[in-house]
Amino acid sequence: MWWRDAVLYQVYVRSFADSNGDGIGDLAGLTARLDYLEWLGVDALWLNPTFPSPDADWGYDVSDYYGVHPDFGTLADLDRLVTEAVRRGIRVLLDLVPNHTSERHPWFRVEHRDWYVWADEPTNWRAVFGGPAWAWDEREGRWYLHSFLPEMPDLNWHEPGVRAEFERILRFWFDRGVAGFRIDVVHRTVKDLRLRDAAGRGRVQRFPPTDVPGTHELIRAWRRLADEYEPPRLLVGETYVLDVHEMATFYGADADELQLAFNFPFLHASLRAAELRRIVELTERALPEAAWPVWTLSNHDHVRFPTRICDGDERRARCALLALLALRGTPVLYYGDELGLEQGPTPEPPLDRARPSRDGCRTPMPWDERPPAVTWLPNGDLSRNVAAQLKDPDSVLRLCRDLIGLRRELAAAPYETLSTGPGIWAWRRGGATVAVNLSARPAHVRPVEGVVRVSTDRSRDGEHVSGRLRLEPWSGAVVG
Ligand code: GLC
Ligand code: CA
Repeated sequence: MWWRDAVLYQVYVRSFADSNGDGIGDLAGLTARLDYLEWLGVDALWLNPTFPSPDADWGYDVSDYYGVHPDFGTLADLDRLVTEAVRRGIRVLLDLVPNHTSERHPWFRVEHRDWYVWADEPTNWRAVFGGPAWAWDEREGRWYLHSFLPEMPDLNWHEPGVRAEFERILRFWFDRGVAGFRIDVVHRTVKDLRLRDAAGRGRVQRFPPTDVPGTHELIRAWRRLADEYEPPRLLVGETYVLDVHEMATFYGADADELQLAFNFPFLHASLRAAELRRIVELTERALPEAAWPVWTLSNHDHVRFPTRICDGDERRARCALLALLALRGTPVLYYGDELGLEQGPTPEPPLDRARPSRDGCRTPMPWDERPPAVTWLPNGDLSRNVAAQLKDPDSVLRLCRDLIGLRRELAAAPYETLSTGPGIWAWRRGGATVAVNLSARPAHVRPVEGVVRVSTDRSRDGEHVSGRLRLEPWSGAVVG
């Protein structure tokens, strides 16, 4: 179970590093940056979809599950990335999109129209990206279901042919050495196809209804397949639910479903001690015995965390990163998180048709103060760049690297909340104490004994603490 000790790093390939001067990040560009990722100490990469796609939804509308997007390179480039990553002890996860394909996928165009969801009369269901969830198809004289954009018809998972094809897809990539998949909207993959109007009134209540037992059964089948491999392949699900108990169900009652289910309540939380602590405690209680939490602050769908929950205050971003990297569970860093990168601008017109605000969290990775080679989106703040932060011993980047290093020592130690005053969140992991002061007033945490291993402002590193730890406003430390 290598992923329990791992730090995952999410790469939005299109924005990370360009190797051939076309302004679009690609696999060779990413391969050329592996030394950096090795230095940072991450154990696995999750790449946003790398498959050929017309890009109605930037790769999430897949037109060939067995290939590589021509913008990103070739299958040989992907194989090379995997080989080079493995040489550095880094595994590669891809992004599987089973809920829908592109309308331009040959299955939808001609080959397997019966693999999609059709209706003679539309229901009142709504698409996640707004508008009705049904689109008219002239050729069939019927409506097809699309949970997202009309260019993304939903697959019908009650069709045995779809199941068999995706097992082939999983094996194809696992056989090539891909370490696992992040699975897109996994919690809604199998639909309840009793085509009846939704009674609910809210947007969410009118999303196409899910066949819950069917979805769990499908995940179990994928897990059995993943477990056939050595080492077992990792399934990380985009379980986009806001209830921690519901999230926990995707690990499977017998730990036979996803090995990791993304924790969206945590991602949606504000940077308040009581709120974060509540979600973490709830998660610790809700997860089945054998399950392992996964924590993330940013991804390609949300405003970057330093902007969203830290008010652009770097001290707060440091506290958030310290907490992320010191919790029990697998942390996922979104590229740029390690620099404290903020949300970038939204171009006019936006490139993301579905949700324009997402452009700003997908801006080019700033490698140095010069404008990045990636130009498909405008840049965010270039002053927060890798080269500058490498040079600066007090940088956010160095803090992240040191925390990743320290994490290994905390290993599997359980999480145990330490009771504190308001605004403070503190916990023990084995012999270590982790504390963040998420308030504007100085605070004390006790009892704490040991040496400050890493502090957010770095000035406290090495300090001996006996009895009580004083924390300045918006600061934190790991003591052990
Ligand atoms: C997931 C992805 C998002 C995409 C959507 C449709 O939520 O994270 O980027 O737009 O699914 O595939
Ligand atoms: Ca390129």
